[in-house]
Amino acid sequence: MSKAKREDSKDTGIKGGVGKNASLSGDKVYFFDTTLRDGEQAAGVNLNADEKLQIARQLARMGIDVIEAGFPASSPGDFNCVHTIAREVKQSTICGLARTREGDIRAAAQALEPGENTRIHVFIATSPIHMEYKLKMTESEVVDQARSGVRLARSLCPEVEFSAEDASRSDTEFLIRIFKVALEAGATILNIPDTVGYAIPEEFYGFCKTIIEGVAAPKGVIFSVHAHNDLGLATANSLAAVRAGVRQVEGTINGMGERGGNSAIEEVVMALKTRADIFKVESTLDTRRLYPVSRLISRLSGVIVPPNKPVVGANAFAHEAGIHQHGVLAKRETYEIMRAEDVGSTPAVIVLGKHSGRHAFKERLEYLGYNISDVEITRAFESFKKLCDEKKDATDGDIEAIISDEILSVKPEYHYELVEYSMEVGGGETTCRVTLELDGKILSDSAKGHGPVEAAYAAIKRIIKLHPRLEDFKIMATSERSNAMGEAKVVLSQDTIRAHGRGASTDIIKASIRAYVNAVNRLYAAAAVRKITVTTVESPPVTLA
Ligand code: KIV
Ligand code: ZN
Repeated sequence: MSKAKREDSKDTGIKGGVGKNASLSGDKVYFFDTTLRDGEQAAGVNLNADEKLQIARQLARMGIDVIEAGFPASSPGDFNCVHTIAREVKQSTICGLARTREGDIRAAAQALEPGENTRIHVFIATSPIHMEYKLKMTESEVVDQARSGVRLARSLCPEVEFSAEDASRSDTEFLIRIFKVALEAGATILNIPDTVGYAIPEEFYGFCKTIIEGVAAPKGVIFSVHAHNDLGLATANSLAAVRAGVRQVEGTINGMGERGGNSAIEEVVMALKTRADIFKVESTLDTRRLYPVSRLISRLSGVIVPPNKPVVGANAFAHEAGIHQHGVLAKRETYEIMRAEDVGSTPAVIVLGKHSGRHAFKERLEYLGYNISDVEITRAFESFKKLCDEKKDATDGDIEAIISDEILSVKPEYHYELVEYSMEVGGGETTCRVTLELDGKILSDSAKGHGPVEAAYAAIKRIIKLHPRLEDFKIMATSERSNAMGEAKVVLSQDTIRAHGRGASTDIIKASIRAYVNAVNRLYAAAAVRKITVTTVESPPVTLA
């Protein structure tokens, strides 16, 4: 392995770094968010275009340097999302993923076309196992692919990142060779992914250092890390890489992603900040937006944040043990290494009530991370006023539920909406009649169940002529107050598609029905994106379980 030192002081004139931020002084760590690409690959997550745009806007507002908005060649839906985000979101660099294939790279360039600061992220696998069994290519063929892919991308886009997929299981010498080729072909960001979450921090530190030294890239070139969390080590590995000299960290909010997920950006940034004495790097991320953005993504994706999740979990700043409470009251730093305010996690407050005006409502929405049109604000404000008539005031949780349930609901080809329902209870059975609307057509049916939710879901299945599997059902309160709204979350699966749905109401049966209908709409939307025909059945079985 080459022991050549990195020539930091020699500026070769390469246009490098990260888009408009490349000229920032100081030892900056750039954050690359892939919630909308790698994060969305998590089982059961399918965000629609509106939701992705909402998230991208909030990531940009938080100061994320690069937003990977999707994989344009993978589907028309992904292409359109990248295109829309590139057009609408200007504060961050917008990135599209591509394999080394010409079609992928051209699709990414086309999708990014309306953007101001854009990047194509070209990747190919470099580990022996991936090259032999997945790509069926020799090392030389992989190197040639990397060269031609990066070259083409660079001819179409001002900034190119190259990733060696499964780098942590690749041969170091080979990685150095392929990174040098990518560099020569025009890549200025070289990414070292731990694709399967295999690395161990100490080992990964040495690995990254060897690569950085071996490639000996000129000033302006940035090494990047992309860690997965299969062994719960993604944050530790990302931090080890930063210590080794990496200056771009890729990850997702809430660590969302396939299997064990990706590196959680909120954890990495707070570790860098809290232990600045060790890392001695800066970032331009506004950490006070971490908590609202985490909540927004959790709500839109349907992926619940565990209460003990570091930084953004509900209990991240809660002290239960008396001895801890006593210590914190005497001096906060006894048991707190970060301040809740620094991550935007202040206690839920009752912010608005019956007499609040549209302006205050709009301001609160902005704080919570929603950026919706004036027409939508008017609609949401009407719902909020109705809610205040029912329960006097509304918490953040109530407002978030109104927006995600009523405003950001899917608009796919199939868009069922609940019109009304009625229930009859007697003799140990419940009968429910549900009425839905689809494209102006009223559809109604009834069915029996052991309880109201089971009966309602059986009636819906008869109407929609589907028999999806109910994978998960949860109902919870939107706040801790006794007059909170009920918010239901449902996960359905059918024909290899998993879709989540949510619904909120002061009436928990209505919330449950809305969640189910929302999941059905998402199932159709996901099927359309993946070109799958959803199997309908004339008479879905409605027998009691
Ligand atoms: O995990 C991985 O290797 C990836 C690449 C596309 C960077 O997601
Ligand atoms: Zn990944």
